[in-house]
Amino acid sequence: MRLFQLLFRACPAALLLVLCLQLGSNKAQENTPRIITLDFQLLRDGTQEVTADLSVQTELKECMVVKASLSSKVRIEGGFNFKYTACLCEDNPRRFFWDFQTNSSARIAAIVDVVRELSICPNDDAVIPIRANRFYVVKTLPAA
Ligand SMILES: *[C@@H]1O[C@H](CO)[C@@H](O)[C@H](O)[C@H]1NC(C)=O
Repeated sequence: MRLFQLLFRACPAALLLVLCLQLGSNKAQENTPRIITLDFQLLRDGTQEVTADLSVQTELKECMVVKASLSSKVRIEGGFNFKYTACLCEDNPRRFFWDFQTNSSARIAAIVDVVRELSICPNDDAVIPIRANRFYVVKTLPAA
C-alpha cells in the first residue's frame, strides 16, 4: 500500500519531468537562431523564359555580406550566371531574381555564401558565422 502510494505520487512528478525535459529541448532548438533560411522558386511561363526567385533571411542579430548565385550541370547562358552581393540583416531580408532562357530541364541550385567583403554592409558591420557559411537549395526545372 505504501509503495503504491509512493508510485502514485512519483508518477505525475516523473511525467512532469519528462514533459519539462522535452519542452526544454524543443525550446533550446527554437532558440538557436537560424543563420540563413532560403525560399527558392523556379517559374516557367510555358516557354523558354524562366524566372528564379530566391528569398534569403537570417535570425542572427549581426549582419552578413552574402553572395547569391545559381548553379546547374546543364550550361545556361545569360542572366543565370549573375552573382548578387548584398548586406543581409535580421530586419532586412533580401530577395533576388534571375531571368534566363532554356528549353531543357535542369536541376538548379540556389547558393548563398557568406563572404568577407568590404563596403557592402553599413560601416562594414558584418560577421562570418563559424558554424557554416554556405547554404543552398536545389529545385528541378521541368523542360519547356
Ligand atoms: C527554345 O525552343 C524554341 C522553339 O523550338 C527556340 O526558338 C529557342 O531558340 C529555344 N531556346 C533556347 C534557349 O534554346
